[in-house]
Amino acid sequence: MSIPPGTPIAALDTPALLLDLDAIDANLGFLQRECDRRNIALRVHFKSLKCGGLARYLAARGVSAFLAAKLNEVETLLSAGVRDILLANEIVTPTKISRLASLAKSGDLAVCVDDADNVRALGAAVTEAGSTLGVLIEVDVGMRRCGVAPGAPVLELASLIQHTPGLHFRGLQGYEGHLQQIADAGERRSRCLAAVGPLIESRKLLETAGIVVPVVTGGGTGTWEFYASVEGVTEIQPGSFLLMDCFYHRLRPEFACSLSILTTVVSRRENWYVLDAGSKAISQDFGVPAIKSHTTERVVKLVEEHTRVEVDRQLPAIGSQREVLPAHCCATMNLHRVAIATRGGKVEAVWPIESSGRYD
Ligand SMILES: Cc1ncc(COP(=O)(O)O)c(C=O)c1O
Repeated sequence: MSIPPGTPIAALDTPALLLDLDAIDANLGFLQRECDRRNIALRVHFKSLKCGGLARYLAARGVSAFLAAKLNEVETLLSAGVRDILLANEIVTPTKISRLASLAKSGDLAVCVDDADNVRALGAAVTEAGSTLGVLIEVDVGMRRCGVAPGAPVLELASLIQHTPGLHFRGLQGYEGHLQQIADAGERRSRCLAAVGPLIESRKLLETAGIVVPVVTGGGTGTWEFYASVEGVTEIQPGSFLLMDCFYHRLRPEFACSLSILTTVVSRRENWYVLDAGSKAISQDFGVPAIKSHTTERVVKLVEEHTRVEVDRQLPAIGSQREVLPAHCCATMNLHRVAIATRGGKVEAVWPIESSGRYD
């Protein structure tokens, strides 16, 4: 796609995924300042971004540490020049373990584990590849996804990691994904603090046994400051705060929605109009999207290639543009191949979204 820098948004064809760089700068600057104030490290979750050009843009603004959900995201980050990457998941298939062991030669990589046999397999693979790998134990802080229970199982696994050649014990990850979307901020806070408690107890257990725990990481856009306030936490790992979506924006108005899908009105009737993008371009897994700057216009239905929007007042003309704010930014990035970065209503850069549509 050839779109020269300086092209006005109004001249773009639709649908197109837009990233407002001024809003990204504001979101990043805000959280960097808050983390600095608390002496906490910020690791940005790349599963929300998936775009190497955006990773380079953030690196130029001081982001040195990224989190990845998948190996292909690690590859995109390495190609973008990022070195400090934590793969926040368990890697267990032989093909992926040897891919990870080989990638570990090119960066400062770490991975999460929750199983002794997996630790042994990772150790054997890095020894064979001639690389080394950081390892964090994933602790289940109540989400009931991956992770070992806090306490004795953490100590057992940490001792094994310490005695496995090629692996370096880095610390603990405890992500409380089940709490991110609790509407009441007071309840979100108290449940987050309760969830992180056993993680910190596990840290103390390791330290009493003489094991150094350099990193304790977790937290997301919904809980970042509660997580960051706990003594013993060293790092937070949110992703959505940069792009945002209309769902998270209700909980976190301090972060602006920088991601939108530019669309065109292709049809209109008595009290509704239809846009030229639907569920194939706008994720609806967290609910219906919103129309940017037109708060009285209500999205009522998305189908594959169309979105129907009801209006009380004047209908927009056919050919008018609307920016749609998705209800889930991460899943929307996964639907597009190209991101158009804009500033002040004009194109600044066009970036491929290398990790979109990939699950490996
Ligand atoms: C391991 C992990 N850390 C952090 C996050 C936080 O992401 P977000 O800030 O987008 O809520 C997630 C979200 O899925 C996650 O899986």
